[in-house]
Amino acid sequence: MKIFLTGATGLLGGELASRLSKSAEIIYLLVRPKSKIPEYFHKPPFKLIRGDLSHPRLIFSEDDRQEIITSVDTMIHAGAYYNLFGDRSENYLANIVGTQNLLFLARESKNLKSFHYISSVAVAGKFRGVFSEDRLDMNQKFDNPYSETKYESEYHVRKSTLPVRKRIYRPGVIIGDSQTGALSKKDGPYYFFDFLKKLSRKKEILKKLPYFPLPFDPKALLPLIPIDQLAEGMVQEILNPHRPDESLRCYHLISQDSPTIEEFLLDSQEAFNLSFLKFWPLPRQMKRVIKKVDVLTKFGMPSDLVDYMYAEARFDQEQALEDIKSLNQSSYQKYKKAFLTATASGSKGRVE
Ligand SMILES: NC(=O)c1ccc[n+]([C@@H]2O[C@H](COP(=O)([O-])OP(=O)(O)OC[C@H]3O[C@@H](n4cnc5c(N)ncnc54)[C@H](OP(=O)(O)O)[C@@H]3O)[C@@H](O)[C@H]2O)c1
Repeated sequence: MKIFLTGATGLLGGELASRLSKSAEIIYLLVRPKSKIPEYFHKPPFKLIRGDLSHPRLIFSEDDRQEIITSVDTMIHAGAYYNLFGDRSENYLANIVGTQNLLFLARESKNLKSFHYISSVAVAGKFRGVFSEDRLDMNQKFDNPYSETKYESEYHVRKSTLPVRKRIYRPGVIIGDSQTGALSKKDGPYYFFDFLKKLSRKKEILKKLPYFPLPFDPKALLPLIPIDQLAEGMVQEILNPHRPDESLRCYHLISQDSPTIEEFLLDSQEAFNLSFLKFWPLPRQMKRVIKKVDVLTKFGMPSDLVDYMYAEARFDQEQALEDIKSLNQSSYQKYKKAFLTATASGSKGRVE
């Protein structure tokens, strides 16, 4: 297999690169001039390709471009602007323009057999109810530029007339390794853990409070997936497609027993010895005001995190569970101890 992979210097792309390196003949990695490149990417089966997703040429050297176009049989698009603090133009350029540029390169490729696109459950936006793997446009609205640009990019992948096998992966919130809890990046729930850490230093004062107001809907789903289980499931499908003749399949990649925000809060409070705290859920109607006055930023959390605290979508997983067998093994109840203990101890959990 000859693979072209974007986003290898990121969290998910790095995990995919390392797992695929055991089977692939060559893996071309798109890297930017400013990318931090790990030492082992300089050795086979990896080959570095200088470029930028948002640049019209995508690949800077014409020789590199010709090599990709003539040899690559598999493209994996894990590169994106993923930053809960990010603004609209950065999201637009990397996510929408970047995906269009890559689709353009894919159309020129002479030996391409499959195109794998990493989307996100964020494409459901503010949708209420069960969101299907089959559908994208459900007339949903969006709270933040990241979700909206991920929606738009997936739209382009779906509509593209590429005559190859297309696979769309919609991961939930990626968390640390299911066995050790380790994660190389600070993200989503980890901002919340920092907040809990701060609270745990003020225990004596907090014990006097009857309630602690917090913006969340107790019933909102926190769709989690550990990085190792996500990457392994994707690699299985990339190497041995379950339904190779189907042109498009889309997968919601989350643990089936992902917790509600309320369950997650209770588990986290226990891990941080804050079980005495009674969080009082601020009503959904206050969400706009909470964002406007930037309450979360004052506590060191990105303001867009609030959108996830009130999410109303559930995710059907019919195609994911049929094609990606290992997903059946992914259970929050099984990995939550490793996840929460590593984070609360602040030791081997997260490496920032
Ligand atoms: N993390 C999550 O919880 C989560 C959940 C659901 C879906 N996803 C999706 O999964 C994919 C990977 O996310 P991640 O968490 O691995 O993100 P990440 O750690 O932020 O990595 C992003 C990668 O994209 C590359 N990139 C960004 N802009 C680029 C550009 N203009 N040109 C070339 N490369 C560019 C970055 O390269 P540099 O090293 O040069 O910056 C980096 O390698 C994304 O599509 C994201 O939307 C992530």
